[in-house]
Parts: sequence; structure tokens; C-alpha cells
Amino acid sequence: MADDRIGHTALRAKRTTAEHAASLIAPGSTIGMSGFTGSGYPKAVPLALARRIEAAHHAGEPFRVRVWTGASTGPELDGALARADGIEFRLPYNSDPVAREKINRGEMAYVDMHLSQVAPMAWQGFLGPLDTAVVEISGIRPDGSLVPSSSVGNNKTWLDRARQVILEVNRWQSAALEGMHDIYYGTALPPHRLPIPLVRPDDRIGEPTFRCDPDKIVAIVETEAPDRNLAFTPPDAAARGIAGHLMEFLRHEVARGRLPPSLLPIQSGVGNVANAVLSGLLHEPFEDMTAYTEVIQDGMLDLLAAGKLRMASATAFSLSPEAAARLNADMAQFRDRMILRPQEISNHPELVRRLGCIAMNGLIEADIYGNVNSTHVMGSRIQNGIGGSGDFARNAYLSIFMTPSTAKGGRISAIVPQASHVDHIAQDVQVLVTEQGLADLRGLAPTERAKVIVENCAHPDYRAALQDYRNRAQRGSYGGHAPTLLGEALSWHQRFVETGSMLP
Ligand code: COA
Repeated sequence: MADDRIGHTALRAKRTTAEHAASLIAPGSTIGMSGFTGSGYPKAVPLALARRIEAAHHAGEPFRVRVWTGASTGPELDGALARADGIEFRLPYNSDPVAREKINRGEMAYVDMHLSQVAPMAWQGFLGPLDTAVVEISGIRPDGSLVPSSSVGNNKTWLDRARQVILEVNRWQSAALEGMHDIYYGTALPPHRLPIPLVRPDDRIGEPTFRCDPDKIVAIVETEAPDRNLAFTPPDAAARGIAGHLMEFLRHEVARGRLPPSLLPIQSGVGNVANAVLSGLLHEPFEDMTAYTEVIQDGMLDLLAAGKLRMASATAFSLSPEAAARLNADMAQFRDRMILRPQEISNHPELVRRLGCIAMNGLIEADIYGNVNSTHVMGSRIQNGIGGSGDFARNAYLSIFMTPSTAKGGRISAIVPQASHVDHIAQDVQVLVTEQGLADLRGLAPTERAKVIVENCAHPDYRAALQDYRNRAQRGSYGGHAPTLLGEALSWHQRFVETGSMLP
């Protein structure tokens, strides 16, 4: 492999194999890995570490590690380590199915965190010491500064905090990524914290590369391996319906003068529905839009390519394999209109509030008052995690949540009498959208919210039962502000657990 990705002469001498790099990680240690929604995660060292862990287990020796990341990663990291039963503790977000099963069986400790809070909390010392950083980059410049790859996540913090650093230099990542990133080094802990000097989504306030003390770098592994994001499913009727209602609402808000014609910086959550909504924007009259968001998905790339989106700021790409290949081939064209930042900046409450983001996130279920559960199926089974939805929803100019009105072939209603777990309280949920319709909850009291949510958003199979619950709750509740029948509010979930269906 040519040397052109490693411009620093002394660091070239630290090139080694993934096996040797993995041998430098001790059992029980805490590792800060790069990676955010399937991009920019290390692809060789975690696999070698998983093999080492399996060998140790075969020999009867305990070997597990504590893993911190930016968000979700890929099968070569979370999947391989979880399959090897090598993860003792994991934060702050996971979408790997093997790890999810272990968490839900109680075999892996998992701390689900607001993504903007991970780096500050690491600095505050609450998470304990960080032994090793394993970070994918796309190159090393002659001065030793590191060119980030397809996600930034918490890498700056891992590189600063870790006792030792292992780098993966991935030649699959486009060399034209250099210059796209904006790494802000101005964060500090209270009482020394200062305002973050970013007032527009396209402001650059930092440096294009990471700083890293070369003496801390103990191994450099060269790879040439693609990010492995899942493909998005083509929008189905429900996703198209949701997008349609949302587009009509946004047009209406512009017509009423409550949003400018170019909208406000959009934030779009993860998943298929969010991607379908972005595709919907392609055909709308909004021009010159911007995005201040967490991830750049396929739909956002299409908006950039079509010139509808002027620029997008995020912390990572979350692209299907086809879109990733397209971006890599065309990086020079896109580079000047995209900025990748540390996740504590991309998701920073101060900035989300200042810029006035339009937050659009998915959900598991919402109750008739608009409390939203984004994370726990039937109140106890973690799906992924809260991700950045809380960072954005609480601070947005407009906080929108969207979902198909049913799940699992209609056996589950996404609108329930009471959410079985709450991530976003009613105050943080201003608009709720399903394929049935849209509920604008701004300025409504709880009983008014319940009326529009049930009438506009619930699936017809569940609407009458929800109306009936509302009526009886209004008569039989202890208090009249947010009427609730305590003995019945979670009975729909109990019915699903017992019978496999919420249907009345
Ligand atoms: N009960 C049981 N399962 C449910 C459910 C419910 N009420 N609602 C959704 N699900 C399941 C779906 O059936 C699907 O399961 P499958 O993978 O086995 O098919 C899965 O959750 C994903 O749902 P889907 O309808 O495909 O929607 P999505 O891809 O938009 O994801 C969330 C929805 C809530 C899981 C996703 O938005 C999420 O993880 N959100 C939290 C993090 C977040 O908002 N991040 C963005 C911040 S920037």
C-alpha cells in the first residue's frame, strides 16, 4: 500500500497489523471507538479484538471490554464484539441486532445518552478513564494532524482523553474529504465555558483536522474497507402519506409567515420515514434550504445534488451503499457544501435553539397527550436509543415527530392511551404526524391535544377505542387536567404482551 495517506515520516514506522494493534488492548479496558450511524467506524482492529476475545473465552479466560462510540457502528464492530460476548458495557447508542438482544437479555450494560452530552460527560470525568482510542481516519498530514473520515462523532474527545491511540487509515474513504470537517477546540467545562461562535449553519469555527500527540499513537493499521450502512427501503404508502401531510403543513406555515420560504435549518432523524420526508422536500417549492442536523442521509444528498439544499452541516454520513459510492466518486463536487463537526457541536442545544432548527424525528409510540416514546418497545425492550432526538426536540423552533399509525402488521397502535416509556415530554412535541394525518399541538391544553391526536393521527382500527378511553377518562380520572384511568392506561401494552396484539 502506498504511503501517500500517511504524510508524517515518524508515524509511518508505527504501521502494524490489526492483530498486533488488538493485542495492545487489555481485558476490562475502556475503548473509545470512532463511528456514527454506520460510517467512519474502525473496521479491522475490532474484528481482530473479537477474534482475540473468542480465543481467550475458548481458553477459559474472561475477556470483555467497555465500548464508547459516537452512535451506532457497523457489523465489524458492534456485531463482531457482541457475537464474541466481548462487550461488558456500551454507550451511547446502538442499532446492532446482536448487541440489542444481549442488552434486552440483561447480558450487556447499556447507557442510552443524549448524543450531545457524551463528550462533555467524558470531560467531566463521570464516565471514568478512557484507556484506548481506536479511530478511523482518512489520512495523516505531514505535520501529524489527522484528517477525519466519514464521521466525526466523539473522535476529538477520544483522541484527547485516551491514554493510548490506535488509528485505522482507511484508503476507501475519499481523499477529497480533506477540508470538509470543522473540528472546534473551544469547548471548556464550567465555569470557563464560553458562547459557541456559530450563528449560521455554514459557519466554520474550528480546524479541518484533529490534533493528536504522536507519542500517544501506539499503532496505525491501514485498511481499504467500505462503510457498511444498510440500504433504505423505498418509501411505502405510509411513509409517502406522512411526507405528504408534512409538506402541506410546511407550505401552510410559510404561507402564514411563520416560516421563511427557505424554511429554517432542517434536522432529520434516522430511519426510513425520515428519509422519505427528505425525498418529499425534493418536489416542494422551498429553495435555498439549509440543514443543521446529525446525519446526512440519501434524501439529503439528493436535495444537495438538485440544488434545493444550499448546504448541510452534520456529524456523519448515513448513506446507503449506492449513495456512499456516489458521494465518494463526486466528493469534490459536494465537499464545499457539507460540513462534518463533532457531535457535541452538531447537536448542541445552544446552537439548535439559536439557529431555530426544524426537528423531524421518528418514534415508537405517542400517547394521546403527545408524550413520545422513541426507545422502548412495551416500555422495556430497547430498540436503538434516544440518539440526538432529545438534543433537537427540546430546543427546536419546531419539533415534529412522525410514525406510521401502526406497527407489526397492524397489531400495535402507535397512538396509545399512555406511553409505556417517555423520552420526549408533551412540552417537547409540537407536531405529530402519521399517514392518517397531522396534529398541530402548539398552544393546546392536554384535553385539546388528545382530541386532535386521536382524530387526526390514530389508525381507524384503534380510533374508536381511543375515543372511548378518552370519554371514560374524562369522567373517571382522579384529576381533570390530563385525564387518565390509572388501572387501564397501560392495558393495551399488557394485552399485546399476553396475546400478541393490541387490537381491541
Ligand atoms: N411497537 C413495536 N415495534 C415498533 C413500534 C411499536 N410501537 N414502532 C416501531 N417499531 C419497530 C418497527 O416495527 C421496526 O421493527 P423491525 O426493524 O423489526 O421491522 C423498527 O421499530 C423501526 O421502525 P420503522 O417503522 O421502520 O421506523 P424508523 O426506521 O423510522 O425508526 C425509530 C423508528 C423510533 C426506531 C427510530 O426513529 C429511532 O431509533 N429513533 C430514536 C433515535 C432518533 O430519533 N435519532 C434521530 C436523532 S437525530
